[in-house]
Amino acid sequence: MTLSANIPVIAIDGPSASGKGTVAQRVAQTLGFHYLDSGAIYRIAALAARARNISWQDEAALAKMAAELDIRFEGGEIVLNGEVITDAVRTEEISRGASEVAVHPALRSALLALQKSFRQAPGLVADGRDMATVVFPDASTKIFLTATAEVRAERRYKQLMEKGNHANLHDILQDLQTRDARDRARPVAPLQQCDQARLLETSQLSIEQAVNTVLDYHHADTQALSNQ
Ligand code: DC
Repeated sequence: MTLSANIPVIAIDGPSASGKGTVAQRVAQTLGFHYLDSGAIYRIAALAARARNISWQDEAALAKMAAELDIRFEGGEIVLNGEVITDAVRTEEISRGASEVAVHPALRSALLALQKSFRQAPGLVADGRDMATVVFPDASTKIFLTATAEVRAERRYKQLMEKGNHANLHDILQDLQTRDARDRARPVAPLQQCDQARLLETSQLSIEQAVNTVLDYHHADTQALSNQ
């Protein structure tokens, strides 16, 4: 068995709708690595709380609830206690809920072991807000992937329109900015670029270019490690 600490992790942190999920998934596919969408875990917590009438402000009840959730990622679907909830966690309402529940340290601690369990051979690509700082501080490659709020709002707008949903660009931009502010300002595990992370600004990049840049960083870091 490979020691967990020897399993490479590519940590990709960044704000909402930066495209980090798409980029992380493609990098994982290319390398044959596992993939962790940590934002989905906070979304699941928000959705599960709603279903159980637990307030998004009730830290103790949220942490207790989290310990009892059976969360599975199966072939692109999210399954919670046997029920497929892939689309239900992607609504704007649950996006807001995820950002609200994510401020509670007790809930974050309750979700830590689950996130760490994704570190399996031959490697992991993990995306979120605190992958490089809290969950995998020893990640072999750390990237802070971002784009301007306007570009991110437009990307989200296009996604929603393509799915046939009603969308308003102005509201999306405002929601994103509110969520960014909350994610950055919280005292525990705030969204921030850590010292060792490389900044990847994707406003002017295609998905392909962003994926290739992450792969280049990973290869450079792997090379540097093997030269040590
Ligand atoms: O990446 P996302 O938009 O699916 O994340 C939803 C929310 O979850 C986001 O507003 C902040 C929170 N989150 C977090 O606090 N820590 C993470 N590692 C990932 C997401």
